Amino acid sequence: MAARTARSIDLIEVRRSKVHGRGVFAQQHIPKGTRIVEYVGERVSHEEADRRYEDKDADDSHTFLFIVDSKTVIDAGVDGNDARFFNHACNPNCESVIEAKRVYIESMRDIEPGEEMTYDYQIQREDSDPPDIDDIFACRCGAPQCRGTMLWPTERPKRKKRAKKKAQATVRSRGRPGGRKAAKKKGARRR
Ligand SMILES: C[S@@+](CC[C@H](N)C(=O)[O-])C[C@H]1O[C@@H](n2cnc3c(N)ncnc32)[C@H](O)[C@@H]1O
Ligand SMILES: [Zn+2]
Repeated sequence: MAARTARSIDLIEVRRSKVHGRGVFAQQHIPKGTRIVEYVGERVSHEEADRRYEDKDADDSHTFLFIVDSKTVIDAGVDGNDARFFNHACNPNCESVIEAKRVYIESMRDIEPGEEMTYDYQIQREDSDPPDIDDIFACRCGAPQCRGTMLWPTERPKRKKRAKKKAQATVRSRGRPGGRKAAKKKGARRR
């Protein structure tokens, strides 16, 4: 497991969350704009990430993958740290920031001790997604403005376009049940 900075050890703790499984919680007051932790793990190609999780159940939304750029994905399932336990929220108090090909989680507002810390996963849609994809990636953040899905963009592409692209996509699509490649989170902000 990658080492955490002394600072992030003081700032956060991982424990059970009402949103999903384990989550990350503030241990102390965290001012807006604080760099909380780096999202680390094994850096692999998109093809390798898809290959690793191609046998995963198509109804399982769980992912530790984070897109760095068109070439690289971080697999926090291998050598990951506490950053992999941040849950998604539609009205988050943190954001993911990509800087010099590294991914960081930073606070978007002041956060009080005991608050769960979240960011918007913006999991990418694919042309080959089945009609029930929003149910598979249903969001349980509980925010009044919850958009109901961890996927981005919120709107599914128009049917006509999807049908055309689907035909192209089936040729490229590799392995996973339902034809979907591995679900990957995408950074909200690039610097
Ligand atoms: C990186 S893990 C986050 C930590 C996770 N709670 C755990 O215990 O492993 C990401 C997965 O947690 C689940 N998850 C995170 N936020 C969620 C939310 N708002 N609603 C539903 N499931 C969520 C999804 O399965 C997602 O792929
Ligand atoms: Zn939500």
